[in-house]
Amino acid sequence: MTVATASGTFKLGGDLSVNRLGFGAMRITGPGIWGEPEDRDEALRVLRRVPELGINFIDTADAYGPDVSEDLIREALHPYTDVVIATKGGQTRNGPGKWVPLGRAEYLRQCVLMSLRRLNVERIDLWQLHRIDSKTDRKEQFQVIADMQREGLIRHVGLSEVSVDEIKAAQEFFPVVSVQNLYNLAARQSEAVLDYCEAENIAFIPWFPLAAGNLAKEGGLLDQIAKRLGATPSQIALAWVLKRSPVMLPIPGTSKVKHLEENTAAASINLSDEDFHQLDELGWKEYRGK
Ligand SMILES: NC(=O)c1ccc[n+]([C@@H]2O[C@H](COP(=O)([O-])OP(=O)(O)OC[C@H]3O[C@@H](n4cnc5c(N)ncnc54)[C@H](OP(=O)(O)O)[C@@H]3O)[C@@H](O)[C@H]2O)c1
Repeated sequence: MTVATASGTFKLGGDLSVNRLGFGAMRITGPGIWGEPEDRDEALRVLRRVPELGINFIDTADAYGPDVSEDLIREALHPYTDVVIATKGGQTRNGPGKWVPLGRAEYLRQCVLMSLRRLNVERIDLWQLHRIDSKTDRKEQFQVIADMQREGLIRHVGLSEVSVDEIKAAQEFFPVVSVQNLYNLAARQSEAVLDYCEAENIAFIPWFPLAAGNLAKEGGLLDQIAKRLGATPSQIALAWVLKRSPVMLPIPGTSKVKHLEENTAAASINLSDEDFHQLDELGWKEYRGK
């Protein structure tokens, strides 16, 4: 059995060691990330299979469902042994597919207190601000997070969809241990953020890591490399992301055990430097629309 340990480890905040290949728990909810999943039993099987495959880093958010993802994680895995549950707050849900940031101090505090209840823990190992709310002073948002960390409700703090300047602004209030931005072979807009994370030893958590745009099409480079290595294009996309940086912690998400096992197997694929660079070049071309 291939396990996530093959992806190597990263120490979140310098003290929480996790295998770099994690699991994203957004897809275990209903369509539009709204309501219960179509197959609840399979969602629970996915979650129980996660630690068996050596994955000890799970990413979720109060807004997934909302509540559904955190509730399922508690049902499947509590009491948590050797697994870090990272959650997020700061987004309200106004229906399927609708996400509205809200960063007022009293709301962020409610997010944390409710996640603590749903996950049934006394402290959240990694709490991430899902979005900085542009309608609320960001100092208000950062200050209440710093307060909650000092009060012991949160162990480590992360950010999501941020620029280098925003990370630096947040670092004035608390140590930023992770940044979660859209990133994959063909989505390269956060390259500068990734470089900053590497320099600061901040975990970079790429969301939507499996996507590769047109690169994944039949007969394309990804497909050719996949066939040569006896793998699938999405496994190669994941292996590329893992090789890109030692601070990279991809969290592919799925609602199916079969896909979870397939994604985990990517941890043991060693791309040659040549394959890596060719894919890198093509990824940039795809990103720039050439
Ligand atoms: N911070 C943010 O703003 C943000 C935004 C989006 C996501 N996230 C986080 O990032 C995680 C990953 O992002 P994501 O779910 O958007 O992208 P992803 O993991 O790259 O892709 C998930 C999609 O690919 C499918 N899939 C997964 N494994 C597959 C396989 N082996 N073969 C074929 N299809 C497969 C899934 O469907 P099936 O269920 O059918 O497998 C799902 O539709 C989320 O779970 C969430 O934790 C964060």
